[in-house]
Amino acid sequence: QRTRIDIVSIFPAFLDVLDLSLIGRAREDGLIDLRIHDLRDWAHDRHRTVDDTPLGGGAGMVMRPDVWGEALDAVLAGGPEAPGAGRAVLLIPTPAGEVFTQRTAEDLARADRLVVACGRYEGIDSRVPRHYAARGFEVRELSIGDYVLNGGEAAAIVMIEAIARLLPGVVGNPASVLEESHSAAGLLEHEALTRPVAWRGLDAPEVLLSGDHARIARARRDEALARTAARRPDMIRALDPATLDSQDRTT
Ligand code: ADE
Repeated sequence: QRTRIDIVSIFPAFLDVLDLSLIGRAREDGLIDLRIHDLRDWAHDRHRTVDDTPLGGGAGMVMRPDVWGEALDAVLAGGPEAPGAGRAVLLIPTPAGEVFTQRTAEDLARADRLVVACGRYEGIDSRVPRHYAARGFEVRELSIGDYVLNGGEAAAIVMIEAIARLLPGVVGNPASVLEESHSAAGLLEHEALTRPVAWRGLDAPEVLLSGDHARIARARRDEALARTAARRPDMIRALDPATLDSQDRTT
């Protein structure tokens, strides 16, 4: 399986970071087929205009549906039911979207194709997602959190990184993908420690040196429960009681 990811943006250089690190290596290894497109290639006038003032008035600019329509038709060519297309998802980063979580990443990692439409300014004309949904595409308008960025590019990088590391072969050690925070356990991951055991007057918990795997697992789980309760009480409230064991303390 080789996931294809297309990103359309007016700042293609913003996405150059995807050449680096883990995702860069996954591209080189042929695990991800990632292509970046400049939206302005589908503009028609001399100034390559992609936006206009909002209908009804107000501040800022809105990205034009006609330019986005031509761009996405070209990039999505073949349509949702094209032979061999597999599952294609049109992903639109927007602060007005549903919140992107690890569950969303796990779901989108199962897609065959992602087409990411990065909007700037006050967003993309809202008929664009409606049009592609009506044509049968799976359209996901997603927010990476309750804050406003200048555009979708930084959010797209975040989401693509979270998705890509779940693809088979991208992360060297699959166990590190399974054990981390926000996985199915519903708790933050336990704290991480390494050598030296004593550092600047701070000693690592002795239990970690005991070699007693059951005791170590218990101590780590207690620590994970305590930090989750302190930092993310919302996650403690959302815990499925069936995932708790008899020794767990959540208060
Ligand atoms: N574009 C601007 N802010 C955003 C956010 N928080 N998430 C996704 N896309 C965005």
